[in-house]
Amino acid sequence: MSHVEDHGETRRDFLYYATAGTGAVVAGAAVWPLINQMNPSADVQALSSIRVDVSGVEPGTQLTVEWLGKPVFIRRRTAAEIAAARDVEIADLPDPEARNANIQDDAPASDGNRALAVPGDDANEEWLVMMGVCTHLGCVPLGDAGDFGGWFCPCHGSHYDTSGRIRRGPAPENLPVPVAEFIDESTIKLG
Ligand code: FES
Repeated sequence: MSHVEDHGETRRDFLYYATAGTGAVVAGAAVWPLINQMNPSADVQALSSIRVDVSGVEPGTQLTVEWLGKPVFIRRRTAAEIAAARDVEIADLPDPEARNANIQDDAPASDGNRALAVPGDDANEEWLVMMGVCTHLGCVPLGDAGDFGGWFCPCHGSHYDTSGRIRRGPAPENLPVPVAEFIDESTIKLG
């Protein structure tokens, strides 16, 4: 698949909605090159952080932005999505680790260890921020899809749940959570 090598080609497949006021979707089964590590190193992050206005993102929708050449999903989850994510035993997860760059490496993959904290509102677990790159071979998973109501990677059939954790299929790891934080009530900073 020559287009895997061609960064320019794959970038054209990607819809960039950094400032869109409403939820956005990423088209199809775009292949994302796995040239770099999923989570960039600290020195790269220092050079490249972005701020994303999430004020227009309604519950049940997601915004997709490009950051460091890769898609990042910013989803505002419904109460039902959160409940589904919480109602899972860690022992039942193929990958029991949180894969969250904001917390310690070996933290368990509970939903609380993956959701993005909202300052001053500890009970708010609506926000989930993840790299939109399948941990199998780098396709961009589709939102609102799959057997677990989260994301589905159509390339080889990986199903992720509403916390972005791999539940079925060949992907070995949960979708990674990048360095992210709210810097005010409607702005998320990546990196
Ligand atoms: S790249 Fe996603 S299942 Fe293979």
